[in-house]
Amino acid sequence: MKSLSTKMVEESLAKPDIHRQWGDEYLIEENERFFNLAFDYVVRELNAPRDATILDAGCGICLHARRLAARGFNVVAVDFSESILREAEEAVRAAGLSRKITLRREDLLSLSFRDGSFDYIVCWGVLMHIPDVETALSELARVLRPGGLLVVSEGNMHSFQAKLRRDRCSIKGMQCLGVKRTPAGMEYWASSPAGMILTRHADMEWLIEKGRSNLLYVRSHVAGQFTDLYTRTPSRLSRKLIHLFNNFWFAHIRFPRLAFGNIVLFEKEV
Ligand SMILES: C[S@@+](CC[C@H](N)C(=O)[O-])C[C@H]1O[C@@H](n2cnc3c(N)ncnc32)[C@H](O)[C@@H]1O
Repeated sequence: MKSLSTKMVEESLAKPDIHRQWGDEYLIEENERFFNLAFDYVVRELNAPRDATILDAGCGICLHARRLAARGFNVVAVDFSESILREAEEAVRAAGLSRKITLRREDLLSLSFRDGSFDYIVCWGVLMHIPDVETALSELARVLRPGGLLVVSEGNMHSFQAKLRRDRCSIKGMQCLGVKRTPAGMEYWASSPAGMILTRHADMEWLIEKGRSNLLYVRSHVAGQFTDLYTRTPSRLSRKLIHLFNNFWFAHIRFPRLAFGNIVLFEKEV
């Protein structure tokens, strides 16, 4: 049975409001350079054949599914929010990628796919909003074929930014209801007229350990964006400098411990 917190988050995500806000903050032109660098990296690491099928788990508006499809892959893009799936469908059609991307409503807590259905899975910025993250991770592990690869992108609670802003909810315009240390990381609950939303800054060691108990072993663990403080910076110049620094860190340093964004590539034991 689903917990009360899971039901609350589901209700909020069913509405378009929070998705719009994420879109305005993250899916922006200024981030294109980083996302292209990051997905070039992901594609290199996956080293998948051109016609491979990738599961995009928690696809949102399919920005990354479109990125993968544009690089030649077939994508099964799933999300449980009907409202975002409708927007994704339009965006996919407008991009002329309807033959490459299959959209489907799925809950990461109980995926309808058979065991071992996918060779490749990308789960980008999603686990951080799921209260029962352990179940979601074990579902991802279940539908991954032995020897398959799973890419997870999460916020890192030990990062410089997370430590600096420990007392603050990360969602602009939302009222912070409290911060709690859980085994999975620092959990921030915030409320808006659209409802309650959870954002977790992950304890990456915990995530890696939970992966191991699901037979997922780390193949690589690198920094994503060093900081997302550009979402809080009105000055164009400061935002530009932050993006330059993020891209520099990602391209040349990649050390994950200090960075807010972390990208982990897991391989499932054969
Ligand atoms: C922050 S957005 C990230 C979207 C996309 N991966 C990206 O990076 O642009 C998180 C997405 O995960 C979806 N999501 C959250 N919990 C989910 C669940 N239990 N099952 C399926 N999708 C879920 C939300 O509806 C939302 O679209």
